[in-house]
Amino acid sequence: MQVDTLITNIGELLTMDKAGPVKGADMNDLPVDENMAVALKDGKVAWIGKALDADNITAEKVVDAKGRLVTPGLVEAHTHLVFGGSREGEMALKQQGVPYLEILKQGGGILSTVEATRKASEAELLEKALFHLDRMASYGITTVEAKSGYGLNKDTELKQLRVVKEANNRHALDLVSTFLGAHAIPEEHKDDPDAFLDEMADLFDEIKEENLAEFVDIFTETGVFTVEQSRKFLQKAKDKGFDVKIHADEIDPLGGTQLAVEMGAISGDHLAVATDEGIRQLSKSDTIGVILPGTSFYLGKETYARAREMIDTGAAIAISTDFNPGSSVTENLQFIMTLAALKLNMSPAEIWHAVTVNAAHAIGRGETAGHIRKGGNADIVIWDAPNHMYIPYHYGVNHANTVIKNGVVLYERQEIGS
Ligand code: NIG
Ligand code: FE
Repeated sequence: MQVDTLITNIGELLTMDKAGPVKGADMNDLPVDENMAVALKDGKVAWIGKALDADNITAEKVVDAKGRLVTPGLVEAHTHLVFGGSREGEMALKQQGVPYLEILKQGGGILSTVEATRKASEAELLEKALFHLDRMASYGITTVEAKSGYGLNKDTELKQLRVVKEANNRHALDLVSTFLGAHAIPEEHKDDPDAFLDEMADLFDEIKEENLAEFVDIFTETGVFTVEQSRKFLQKAKDKGFDVKIHADEIDPLGGTQLAVEMGAISGDHLAVATDEGIRQLSKSDTIGVILPGTSFYLGKETYARAREMIDTGAAIAISTDFNPGSSVTENLQFIMTLAALKLNMSPAEIWHAVTVNAAHAIGRGETAGHIRKGGNADIVIWDAPNHMYIPYHYGVNHANTVIKNGVVLYERQEIGS
């Protein structure tokens, strides 16, 4: 067989090739293949087998994995990728103990990013988004969900969504777009949130026609949108053919988790303070819990989402960065894997399901991302790690050695020799 690339001498190979989403106890069942090789041709996986059986494969390029770990490219299921400015000034407020929702109430937080995003040109936002995508790629991420939500008026929300579309065209990573026009109540609509939601819902047709987003999301939270407002808004989105997501039970337990289940949302995200009833319903449903422990960490919370309980009672869980300029300022999904181990009590096997197959299903990419499968996309990472347990264990640094997207090397760690 003639191929483009043969990755051989793989110590541990995780193919994650399962029918997903993977739920409950199955998340802890991780097949690990040893001493493997993978052949790539025309951007696809052409062959998977034991390294010893690769003799009859001729490759233009042979990559010696030197006994390292090889996995599918990571899938990042929840980011606020496109935004203007940054909010390092908020760090001092946080240190003084000003709560996240109080900063928002005073017109800061999300609303200060809204101001910066409204001012920024499409070209500026695009350049910034491409920069963050480069960094994500360097950390082993090959598919990324990206939300709008820093426009909060028609023009700027559409501007953000167009930036996601253009970034998807320009960048090697695959992007999946979500319309989060219902992210906060802008100053000019402070007293009439319902009218604001109507304005955002008016965009559904245009977004559909121009294929600007696949999902519609809302921030169901104290001082933002109630469960009732969220239900009405998301129902309108569903009627227009969108699949829905919810920023649910992030700070106050309003019951967003139950609403996600009730609406048949593809995912309920955050769930940091989900109630017993919320967890019970989630575990019986097909809604994927996208847990974002980096946000709990960065907001200085003592309590993290009860992922252990969710998995033990049968839920499908994904984990993601929530990359955004306020509540989780990192593109490093590997660090989030460490938080999942230490703060969510997830096993390495569960964590790998949560950043590959389940994350892919949470953004409607279960068929094309999050696995290594013959005939599938060649999205592959070679890690500077001897096994899959090593990545959550050695924290805060980048373990990616080589990141391949559609058969092409996007990132290779540079050796700094003396
Ligand atoms: O997922 N909760 C709402 N949205 C983001 C934070 C956005 C921001 O602070 O800019 C989140 O935490
Ligand atoms: Fe978020």
